[in-house]
Amino acid sequence: MRIAVLGTGMVGRDVAGRLSELGHDVTMGTRDVAATLARQDPDSQFTAWAAEHPQITLATLADAAAGAELVVNATSGQASLAALEAAGKENLAGKVLIDIANPLDFSRGMPPALFVSDTDSLGEQIQRAFPETKVVKTLNTLTSALMVNPRQLADGEHTVFVSGDDTAAKKLVGELLTELGHTDVIDLGDISTARGTEMLLPVWLRLWGALGTPIFNFKIVR
Ligand SMILES: NC(=O)c1ccc[n+]([C@@H]2O[C@H](COP(=O)([O-])OP(=O)(O)OC[C@H]3O[C@@H](n4cnc5c(N)ncnc54)[C@H](OP(=O)(O)O)[C@@H]3O)[C@@H](O)[C@H]2O)c1
Repeated sequence: MRIAVLGTGMVGRDVAGRLSELGHDVTMGTRDVAATLARQDPDSQFTAWAAEHPQITLATLADAAAGAELVVNATSGQASLAALEAAGKENLAGKVLIDIANPLDFSRGMPPALFVSDTDSLGEQIQRAFPETKVVKTLNTLTSALMVNPRQLADGEHTVFVSGDDTAAKKLVGELLTELGHTDVIDLGDISTARGTEMLLPVWLRLWGALGTPIFNFKIVR
């Protein structure tokens, strides 16, 4: 499948790299291609990473989205609506958008707060802003190394969730999750159920602090 991954941070790189390894044709979208390629800071050594992944192309947000059959939102939650606007409503229309972003507000320090919760969610905000796009919220409840390589946890099966209004879109995303190695995928229902998974973040963040590692996941035993 031709997939655009919007966002060149850790999540974007991990997801793009693994989808490409699985045989998908991946383009990453960024605000400014030249600036991203010139980045040298240790947190976002995009140049070094890109050199190791020559099969993945880098394009503007709009060009990446225009050429894709499926789009992944791996941008900062506070910037997601702006990034998707830059990607272009027309380039996202009719397509499945996997939304991994979390509505984290770091303005008051760590741990971050949620800038939307309870009665709304970032997933719903995106779905409302892009009504012709089929938004599926998933993978936002685990660290990116586990999103793309869930089997690395010795405990075996653990859980990911999907939320979205379009049943066919959730089925397609479920197939991609299976390709990534996820075996327990719970369909929570329509996009409003993203409130629940986004509100897991305050718990996830405290677990990270308590366990001292992000390599853990929720497992729903039933
Ligand atoms: N880190 C994890 O393991 C994890 C787990 C679950 C969910 N998430 C969520 O996944 C998303 C990506 O996380 P991350 O840690 O990879 O990176 P991040 O630092 O949260 O986001 C980086 C990306 O956001 C884009 N961005 C930042 N400000 C922007 C703006 N004003 N306009 C447009 N785009 C902007 C950047 O695009 P450019 O390429 O243009 O610089 C960059 O690629 C976040 O929403 C995060 O909450 C992360």
